[in-house]
Amino acid sequence: MSRPTEVISVDPKQPDPSVIEHAASILRRGGLVAFATETVYGLGADATNPDAVMAIFEAKGRPSQNPLIVHVDSTEMAKSCVAEWPDVADLLALHYWPGPLSLVLPRTSRIPDAVTAGLPTVGIRNPRPLVAQDLIERVGRPIAAPSANRSNRVSPTLASHVFKDLEGRIDLILDSGQTDLGLESTVVDLTTRQPRVLRPGPVSASELESLIGPLRVVEIANPGAVDLGVLTSPGQLPVHYAPQARTLRVETPEDLARLPWTTDEFVRVFGSVGTPEEFGLLDRPERVALVIIGTPELPSLPAALTHRFHLPDPETAGRDLYVVLHQCDALGVSLIVIVPPPDRREWHTIRDRLWRASRPWRE
Ligand code: TXA
Ligand code: MG
Repeated sequence: MSRPTEVISVDPKQPDPSVIEHAASILRRGGLVAFATETVYGLGADATNPDAVMAIFEAKGRPSQNPLIVHVDSTEMAKSCVAEWPDVADLLALHYWPGPLSLVLPRTSRIPDAVTAGLPTVGIRNPRPLVAQDLIERVGRPIAAPSANRSNRVSPTLASHVFKDLEGRIDLILDSGQTDLGLESTVVDLTTRQPRVLRPGPVSASELESLIGPLRVVEIANPGAVDLGVLTSPGQLPVHYAPQARTLRVETPEDLARLPWTTDEFVRVFGSVGTPEEFGLLDRPERVALVIIGTPELPSLPAALTHRFHLPDPETAGRDLYVVLHQCDALGVSLIVIVPPPDRREWHTIRDRLWRASRPWRE
């Protein structure tokens, strides 16, 4: 299935119409094009063409039971994909579209089984960037687009992340720079009496609730929740967005002081030397990366530990978390130690993604 992957730069503020037409023609004939949305890069295919959609699953190595989000350029196009468009969808679309909110609604036959993994519903969103808008408009059809990464890897926020994962497997990458928000869209299910947030994201459950009250919004994906019972949405799988290095998290910045920096300490703390850590952190400092999130200042750290990343506030952390995780993989580290942000509302989405990407230092 190897195919040459073209990469073309495109100005996010003024996308060149001839480049957009080139990308649209690939999509119209059933090809695969990666493009930036405001959240992460998506891997697009014509959502009305089952073969094109199947090619997405093949390129990503994605299990076929994981449904795709369909991208539209207007509420009118959204309505052509769904069997019902309730008032609450209207309200949310008016307020948040174009934007990082995906709505799950009953689908019509325009959307083939391949897109929805046979589910009677479809997730739909209208992305904000001009490149995405122009592309969908030019194709004139809804575009199915999951995040443009190999299945279970970290979502891409730069074109280079897409290239690293999918080179030779897709036709074209439109490079319009780093995505604005850096975390995947909020997915809200509108098919139940109470709307349910299936995946937390840039639009919070409380924001949704304050807009659509008196309807209550139920949030079912709790960070760190392992036993979710029946999975309504595969994005809820506990480990889902992991880097390739072993990724462990401590609980608080204070825990850093208690980490086994030397092998002696390691033996004292854990009794024996072995996986996952195998060594005191300072024995092989080049193999270790520290990612510290949500503290205003970097705590004092051993000088030998040069791979350190600091994401102080929710906005920076949202935008750069995946960049940092991709960078850790590129550095070839074998262990990433995460210090997560406090359990506060503004950190909810970041914590959700961190809990999926990592395991506790001690199970
Ligand atoms: O921000 C985003 O949503 C990005 C950009 C590219 O738009 N897309 C994205 O797609 O994150 P993906 O495929 O990586 O994640 C889609 C999530 C999955 O958790 C999937 O299970 C859920 O949405 N989903 C899609 N359709 C669904 C449906 N009909 N019912 C329930 N969950 C659905
Ligand atoms: Mg994904």
